[in-house]
Amino acid sequence: MNPALPAALAAALDAALTGVARKPLAAAARKLSEGYRQGQTSRAVVSPEDACAYAVARMPATYAACSAVFSRLMMAMPDLAPRTLLDVGAGTGAASWAAVTAWPQMESLTMLDHNPALRALARKLAQAGPPGLASAEILGGDLALLDMKAGLVVASYVLAELPEEKAAGVAAELWRWTDAALVLVEPGTPQGFARIRAARAALIAAGAHVAAPCTHDDECPMARSVGESRSDQNQSDWCHFSQRLPRSRDHMLMKGASVPFEDERYAYVAVTREPAARGARILAPVLETKPGLTFKLCDETGLRAQFVAARDKDEYRRVRKRGWGDLF
Ligand SMILES: C[S@@+](CC[C@H](N)C(=O)[O-])C[C@H]1O[C@@H](n2cnc3c(N)ncnc32)[C@H](O)[C@@H]1O
Repeated sequence: MNPALPAALAAALDAALTGVARKPLAAAARKLSEGYRQGQTSRAVVSPEDACAYAVARMPATYAACSAVFSRLMMAMPDLAPRTLLDVGAGTGAASWAAVTAWPQMESLTMLDHNPALRALARKLAQAGPPGLASAEILGGDLALLDMKAGLVVASYVLAELPEEKAAGVAAELWRWTDAALVLVEPGTPQGFARIRAARAALIAAGAHVAAPCTHDDECPMARSVGESRSDQNQSDWCHFSQRLPRSRDHMLMKGASVPFEDERYAYVAVTREPAARGARILAPVLETKPGLTFKLCDETGLRAQFVAARDKDEYRRVRKRGWGDLF
């Protein structure tokens, strides 16, 4: 999937910015980013300008991360064809846009968010989307009060706004509303991974199968917390991935950036009612040297390094194009 915002969304966002002065918008975006870094939540988004600042500064990255995750889920579950979507903590609708791009047959979408400013902008943007999105139901309220089912349920960058100890319970609750697949995406930080890890364990206990990134439903072989054990070779490691995305002029302005792209680090788990295809997942950038390629892999046997020699021509050709996040 293309990590760039779909043209209709980019145009709708441009239209929403008509007449909005960029200097205060950039200041609002900076304040928001700073707040997120210090653990604040999206409750800091109050005005329509704040919502625009979120959409310009963060939506391209959360859209790109969701697109990458949905691609992985599609590869693991090629027959998955959800027709209903529940986007929990939808914000301005990044995950919904990525979902209708991944599964164009999606007919019925519901976005839920307790923030009125983000909901208002989500509605405005969705009207520029394909029919399912343009007619999406956009509901206010707390995710704890959810009472509806959908083929695909997604919560993108939402658990980060809840205390870590709530991640497992919320994930199990969302699973109850899931007919086919549940996707959780979080920042690719140790804290984001900790929430994903807790959610994953709770979901497996509730009978879910992990479709991606893990290729098994066993205990996660990563050290329990970063720095937990000095003797553990994985102590400074956590499961996360990276997606490069283009930055528009406004996006660069909001970020004070000098390059027209950024790399979004994210952690995720996608679970399904049906078991998915198996294999091994590549957990880090591939190390390329003259004698061959070294892959860091995770599968049901745990974490391991796999070397493929350049002289092993068939195998080398088979895996040469595989990268961080792919199945090996
Ligand atoms: C960082 S934003 C992510 C928005 C969007 N999912 C994305 O990926 O761009 C987190 C969103 O979750 C919403 N949220 C957080 N806690 C919530 C709750 N308990 N109930 C409903 N929405 C919630 C916030 O209002 C905000 O829109």
